[in-house]
Amino acid sequence: MFAMSGDARIYSPSSARNRDFIRDAFLKHMPTKGVIVEVGSGSGEHCIHIAAAAPHLYFLPGDPDEASRASIAAWIAESALDNISQPHDSDVTQENWRERFSACDGVLSINMIHIAPFAAAKGLFAGAASLLKDEGRLFLYGPFKRDGAHTAPTNEAFDQWLKGRDSSWGVRDLDREIAPLANRTGFKIRDIVEMPANNLSVVFSKY
Ligand SMILES: C[S@@+](CC[C@H](N)C(=O)[O-])C[C@H]1O[C@@H](n2cnc3c(N)ncnc32)[C@H](O)[C@@H]1O
Repeated sequence: MFAMSGDARIYSPSSARNRDFIRDAFLKHMPTKGVIVEVGSGSGEHCIHIAAAAPHLYFLPGDPDEASRASIAAWIAESALDNISQPHDSDVTQENWRERFSACDGVLSINMIHIAPFAAAKGLFAGAASLLKDEGRLFLYGPFKRDGAHTAPTNEAFDQWLKGRDSSWGVRDLDREIAPLANRTGFKIRDIVEMPANNLSVVFSKY
């Protein structure tokens, strides 16, 4: 990630590589109208990219990190889009994070749950359960283990790197950690989309 001097916009090379694929999976599997709350938006590039292709949806991006929020706001200003709000600062480990939002149609989180303690995944699902309307969808993107195993050596190396930075971080296991968490909070897996570079998009709906 890098920023230009005097410009709050953060540029993420990985976003430039994966944003078309994430946008296309999102548009195929997420609601076609209503409001989408994004958490852990980082630079904001994904949300801007999806919002530009989805004028039928309204987006609420946000991040607890101040520099990220400044980047999101700067990308919004540059885009001139009118279907995206100023960034919120929600931290999904805070029990009441969802209380500032009205019922919504989608919750989006890209590359967040592995770069945060597992409490963030728990808070994300708990908040999404009360925030989403009955037909709503939760969309996650990132690397996942499947049934106890990494899906690629690069993901295993990434997992080691994450744990070296913070022992509470790490690539989550879709079958053994995330699906049970989803079930406990009233969600089921609806779609699993294979993405480039051994990532997945996973879409959850309510039971
Ligand atoms: C690896 S970045 C991903 C950013 C962006 N979604 C992307 O894919 O480029 C992870 C983001 O999650 C945010 N984050 C970490 N813990 C969080 C939490 N508890 N609640 C909400 N966001 C969190 C971080 O501030 C960071 O911006």
